[in-house]
Amino acid sequence: MPGLIQESPFKTITVKELHPTFAAEVSGVNFQDLSEEQLSEIIAAMAKYGVCVFRNTGLDDESHVQFSKRIGELDNIQRYLVGGRQPRYAQYELFDAGNIDGETDSILDPNSPRAHSNRGNGLFHVDSSFNPRRASLSLLRACELPPPGHGGNTDFADSRTAFDELPADLKDELLSHDYVGAHSMAHSRKLGSPEFFKDVDPAAPGAAPMQRHRLVQRHEPSGRMNLYIGAHLHHVEEVGAPGKEIPGSWELIQRLNQHATQKKYTTTVEWHDPGDMVIWDNRCTLHRAGSGDFEGRFRRDLRRTTVHDDSPTAWGLNSKDSVWQGFSTNGNPQHKGAVGV
Ligand code: OGA
Ligand code: MN
Repeated sequence: MPGLIQESPFKTITVKELHPTFAAEVSGVNFQDLSEEQLSEIIAAMAKYGVCVFRNTGLDDESHVQFSKRIGELDNIQRYLVGGRQPRYAQYELFDAGNIDGETDSILDPNSPRAHSNRGNGLFHVDSSFNPRRASLSLLRACELPPPGHGGNTDFADSRTAFDELPADLKDELLSHDYVGAHSMAHSRKLGSPEFFKDVDPAAPGAAPMQRHRLVQRHEPSGRMNLYIGAHLHHVEEVGAPGKEIPGSWELIQRLNQHATQKKYTTTVEWHDPGDMVIWDNRCTLHRAGSGDFEGRFRRDLRRTTVHDDSPTAWGLNSKDSVWQGFSTNGNPQHKGAVGV
């Protein structure tokens, strides 16, 4: 009956919208025995909302990884495990996004290099934009949470709607050029803790090579255009001119990041219980770790799987032979501070 009731397109899940343009809380999912039909409805909800929150999933490390593998090929932390460094978890596919020191199992010292590195996660960013092959979905699951009232939420921004609503001059500029963003993890680490990383030069010859992805791209699952920006974005180039910043590159980046993270484009997800999981699509949203006085006081243990993008623009302008690197606080690209970003 057209015009009367807008039927939910979903048969096996229930969706509650969290913001006028993106993000939803999804209930009714049976993670213990997930049918193909539910999986495809979750994928469809992700394409539409960009961020989906699932409460009390009951997932543990192993079932989190197994569920993620049904979505796509997963990134893993093996490239960080050098010099005898042991993984914190049995699964290489889990990234540590929390504040626990894996060696001592105590709360990370806020003055430790890894804590300084993690501050970059407090800036709106896109996971893995500094990698040659970017990420599609990130799946972040809570294991331990600070008591309510001490912060530690995760904030999201809708970069598709931000593109749609760009000021006309900016949209014209972006649509009349073929701009490429050069992304660097060292850059966002420095932005997150400028004094601690004052000697880091993301463009130094020995630094991890920057990776290039177009600034404006179509988000394949929804067909909508997106701004591919965030804190790892170091400078902008014209396509075909790698290494040559366009004039006004940094002003453009700041303008785009500020535009896309205005309050009207953002929403905050509060973590309630261990087992809560949030999935976001890095190809159409930005996110950041919210602040709070839990740092150095309360445990916040969150673990993430990261799905490799398999859309046509997954590798951006990068060679498939590119070396995958993280960021080091001491000149070694495999520094543990890199894990979890
Ligand atoms: C991440 C991340 C934010 C948070 O896991 O990629 O940025 O709130 N996490 O911990
Ligand atoms: Mn992140």
